[in-house]
Amino acid sequence: MRLLVTGGCGFIGTNFIYAMLGRHDDLTVVNCDKLTYAGNRANLAPLEARGDGRYHFVRADIADPAAMAAILAQYRIDAVVNFAAESHVDRSIADPEPFIATNVRGAQNLVHCAMQAGVPRYVHVSTDEVYGSLGPDDPAFTETTPLDPSSPYSASKAAADLLVGAYWKTYGYPAVITRCSNNYGPWQFPEKLIPLMISLARQDKPLPLYGDGTNVRDWIHVADHCRGVELALFKGRPGAVYNFGGGAELPNITVVRTILAALGKPESLITFVKDRPGHDRRYAMDHSLAARELGFAPEYDFARGIEQTLAWYADNQPWVAAIHSGEYRRFMDSWYKDRS
Ligand code: NAD
Ligand code: TYD
Repeated sequence: MRLLVTGGCGFIGTNFIYAMLGRHDDLTVVNCDKLTYAGNRANLAPLEARGDGRYHFVRADIADPAAMAAILAQYRIDAVVNFAAESHVDRSIADPEPFIATNVRGAQNLVHCAMQAGVPRYVHVSTDEVYGSLGPDDPAFTETTPLDPSSPYSASKAAADLLVGAYWKTYGYPAVITRCSNNYGPWQFPEKLIPLMISLARQDKPLPLYGDGTNVRDWIHVADHCRGVELALFKGRPGAVYNFGGGAELPNITVVRTILAALGKPESLITFVKDRPGHDRRYAMDHSLAARELGFAPEYDFARGIEQTLAWYADNQPWVAAIHSGEYRRFMDSWYKDRS
């Protein structure tokens, strides 16, 4: 299989490419990434250095029709997994435009080019955030829960899901959509809750918790999400949507306390700050369809997953330090300045 992975220099894409090349000897991966602030080509440098022809990197924008058509033809691609996205809710609040450009127009362009090139397998990676927010006693989201996004990020992802679904309904293009809950693990950019809190705690800096810290997320280790996407790629029913979750619903304050305890840092570092506008209260995923049709089951519980993640960040301080400059600092300074 010659697999095109888009957004492979980001958090989940990096984990997915290593996992797939590790598990499948007959696989070639072409990684197409625009290298935004969140994309780091060096994550996959060991694969480039190997030079065995099983990994290729191309810098391009999924919204560019000529570039996508050229990649699909040149590498005779027979499967696509689209991870490429603007992915941070807070950035989408500060400036929604790039989210429309990549998550909506880019997602539509990529599925269109893949259909025109006759690529027979296609996975569009989406998120539980398209369903909106749950109350404390509501049942978990299923694939038929109506889409009700709250942020420009989740609205852009919902728009893409509807477009990809339309390619199946209108043209019979056999795309599969996956929706996953909050990921954590190696290579996650330190603007998201878990790597941000690890990074700040290690520096003895205040940990900014939005609102009262009781918003709930369903945490899944990135390795389990990657396994789910792999199953959807090989076994997904054309036109289907699959939910993936980690079965680890936790309030943010519990996550942060767990990190502080593991690092031996005081809870006095926790600082409650002004809430994120439109902040979803709770996400929870019912992944019984994926369990039934794909054999999906998360393997990590949160205790093991967070321990592995803390160890990775401890061992990869230069990776984190390289990010703590330039564009990262500009966004973090301006976003958190208004929240204290
Ligand atoms: P990320 O922000 O870490 O990485 C995104 C990658 O996409 C980066 O390498 C970036 O350079 C690249 N990219 C951005 N715009 C591009 C464009 N126009 N063309 C080509 N490449 C582009 O994101 P992530 O956390 O790895 O998320 C990957 C996907 O999974 C996204 O679609 C996201 O919506 C989805 N998802 C993420 C989570 C999560 O918890 N992180 C949960 C569910 C779903
Ligand atoms: P985040 O990692 O941004 O993921 P998402 O918004 O996609 O769920 O945030 C996870 C939770 O942590 C969410 O409820 C918002 C909260 N949060 C904070 O309390 N403080 C922060 O500085 C950040 C980045 C997030």
